Amino acid sequence: MGVEVLSALRPRPGGRFVDGTLGGAGHAALVLDASSPTGWLFGCDRDGVAVEAASQRLAEKFAGRFEVRRGNYADLAGWLPERSCDAVLLDLGVSSPQLDSPERGFSFQQEGPLDMRMDNRQELTAADLVNGESAEALAGIFWKYGGERESRRIARAIVHDRALRKFETTRQLAELIERLSPRAGRKAHPATKVFQALRLAVNDELGSLRRGLEAAVKILKPGGRLAVITFHSLEDRAVKEFGRERSRGYTFAGAVDVPELRLPRAPELNWVTRKAILPGADELRENPRARSAQLRVFERM
Ligand SMILES: C[S@@+](CC[C@H](N)C(=O)[O-])C[C@H]1O[C@@H](n2cnc3c(N)ncnc32)[C@H](O)[C@@H]1O
Repeated sequence: MGVEVLSALRPRPGGRFVDGTLGGAGHAALVLDASSPTGWLFGCDRDGVAVEAASQRLAEKFAGRFEVRRGNYADLAGWLPERSCDAVLLDLGVSSPQLDSPERGFSFQQEGPLDMRMDNRQELTAADLVNGESAEALAGIFWKYGGERESRRIARAIVHDRALRKFETTRQLAELIERLSPRAGRKAHPATKVFQALRLAVNDELGSLRRGLEAAVKILKPGGRLAVITFHSLEDRAVKEFGRERSRGYTFAGAVDVPELRLPRAPELNWVTRKAILPGADELRENPRARSAQLRVFERM
């Protein structure tokens, strides 16, 4: 969503921009190009391979105008001063190089270790969850992060099968799910939801998102822009929820908004567009993986 992201971030010479999910540095390069000759960009990614590739790509054309760091965007506020940036981009989820590398274990289509770590310095892998968690905990993960209706059945079958042989590969797990719920006319592969759920749990993606949104608000200057691209409803709901909460003129204690118990507070964000921005038809033709992308844009008050 290059065009949409640029119009959201409004890069200009002299501006300071942040890409919290650098990936292959596609968006970062667009922002640096559009803010030539003096725009500056801070980019980070949890994935060491991505950081290496992005640094090389950016150095070819934008030497001296960027800084790259390996780490979680949830920590942005520890690396950059408060109210110092003009725009922050978070393009969530996994990248094509991650999905297409069987050894990373993100894809059920290809045989690989059951890994799914974005940052391979982390200890916890998908295999640890699948082989170590109780049936109840696994069912909870599949339901909460994947909305998988067969969560209990799949979790029970995993616990049964792993007593005979531990789960080590992506295909081993995908085949168990195919056996339990055959594809029969369904568009999505039956393992889609379980794999999404494991990936979210292994990388604590929703926890990072919440902390990352809070960090982004801290480092943005008043008038600065926050753009977030989500790929599934759980992420989008979290971003919408955050936007609603920070654009209200009050807070409330507890889980329920009781008007009598509201505490006034200055709103921190404005919605730039109320509706999510979706990829155009041209982009969808070129990149079918963009079909579930949604862009939301906020302005720091
Ligand atoms: C969809 S890709 C980004 C692609 C990038 N916008 C581009 O133009 O090439 C998502 C990237 O975000 C990274 N990522 C996901 N969660 C992260 C987090 N909490 N902190 C830092 N990087 C993260 C992934 O490792 C992946 O490289």
